[in-house]
Amino acid sequence: MTDALTLTWPNHDRLLIASNETDYEWIAGDAEPVKAKDRGRIGEGEATGVVACGDGLDALDALAIDGKLMDQKIRLVYVDPPFGAQKRFGHYRDTLSTAAWLSMLRDRLAALKPLLSPDASVWLHLDETMSHRARLVLDEVFGESAYVATIVWQKRLTVESRTAVSVSHDPILVYAPAGRKHWKTVRNRIASTVAGSNRDGDPRGPWRDAPFTAPGYRAGQQYTIINPAGIELTPPRGRSWFATRPVFERLVAEDRIWWTKRGAGQPRIKNFEIDGTQVPGTIWSGEEVGTNDDAKRHLAGLFAEAESVFDTPKPEALLERIIHIGSNPGELVVDLFGGSGTTAAVAHKMGRRWFTSERLVDTVSNVLVPRLATVVGGTDFGGVTTKHGWAGGGAFEVVQVRPRLGRVRELPYVVDSAASASRNR
Ligand SMILES: C[S@@+](CC[C@H](N)C(=O)[O-])C[C@H]1O[C@@H](n2cnc3c(N)ncnc32)[C@H](O)[C@@H]1O
Repeated sequence: MTDALTLTWPNHDRLLIASNETDYEWIAGDAEPVKAKDRGRIGEGEATGVVACGDGLDALDALAIDGKLMDQKIRLVYVDPPFGAQKRFGHYRDTLSTAAWLSMLRDRLAALKPLLSPDASVWLHLDETMSHRARLVLDEVFGESAYVATIVWQKRLTVESRTAVSVSHDPILVYAPAGRKHWKTVRNRIASTVAGSNRDGDPRGPWRDAPFTAPGYRAGQQYTIINPAGIELTPPRGRSWFATRPVFERLVAEDRIWWTKRGAGQPRIKNFEIDGTQVPGTIWSGEEVGTNDDAKRHLAGLFAEAESVFDTPKPEALLERIIHIGSNPGELVVDLFGGSGTTAAVAHKMGRRWFTSERLVDTVSNVLVPRLATVVGGTDFGGVTTKHGWAGGGAFEVVQVRPRLGRVRELPYVVDSAASASRNR
């Protein structure tokens, strides 16, 4: 953190804890520990997911043991909290004061921090009501050097004609607590969005070519390359070759270098059309990763009851990209603001372990658990199901975490997957 530049707000030094199902209270000092109660289990075999009904901070307090959650360090956090926009939605309220909202966010991110693996990343999904303040909160919790990028997700393809400027994106702030340099070595690349061709009939299939140069002067990447026509080449002014000489020689041996001008021009690198050839960028279009409307259509297809169609679900394809970039199969993905359960649903289909919390009993029992029951039961045919060849399977647990101060309604006991799935038909 650079000196002196911090965001402060009333009660900045206090902890904001849940006082009942919807409200919070600031307290000074440490809070009493919280306990969780088993409410049920859906599916067969080992449970690889947990739905915690309760405040995210309480859920971590009750369920994290010895710096781990579900016996693991967390590899990826995606959080999509209420945006601080002073709105009421069908399923939840977004009406906290700015100070309470900032404490709410800060305290829950701070509770996640000791549970993160060294390779973790934290993705905070907001709109622009609070994203400028939230960035300072993330700096406070993880340090400025943990900032990686802000993704611009195109959430709608249509124009909102009643507004001064139609906002069609949400920002997603990405932090890697071990620093972006380290995270670059452990994050996954994404599939190329540009179609390739196979100009040399390479048996490995279609490929795209990119310049074999990199910006800036790097001493180890300044050497002479002789092209097939015998012409000596050096990197263009202000640039270096893309890799060191031994790497270049290996690429030549592997037939990964393409020469322009039929061998008399520059070297270019061949990237094959397999998953993971492209460095993720910051602009994610709705066509590539879905829009809010796509997410609503998916949920509407799952639930006959209109009230189960959540107001602000995120599309599965968006979460799929985030989960792909930030984690590998078997690793733990966490979402403290579960809502309709998109993160958990996609994580399950992608073979990750997952943990999600959601405060509202009605949202957990009417939307989140029934949705995840369709994933486990193999009756969710939308979202990324086809892409991942998902046919159902696995299991998850449901627990209820009670707030330290007030009372909440009992979460209806979930008997088994067949019973929950039948409620959706
Ligand atoms: C924007 S929605 C999340 C939508 C979700 N990403 C999806 O795709 O459906 C935010 C959710 O966070 C829940 N929530 C708000 N404060 C919370 C807290 N302190 N702990 C757990 N859940 C909370 C709200 O009830 C709401 O369902």
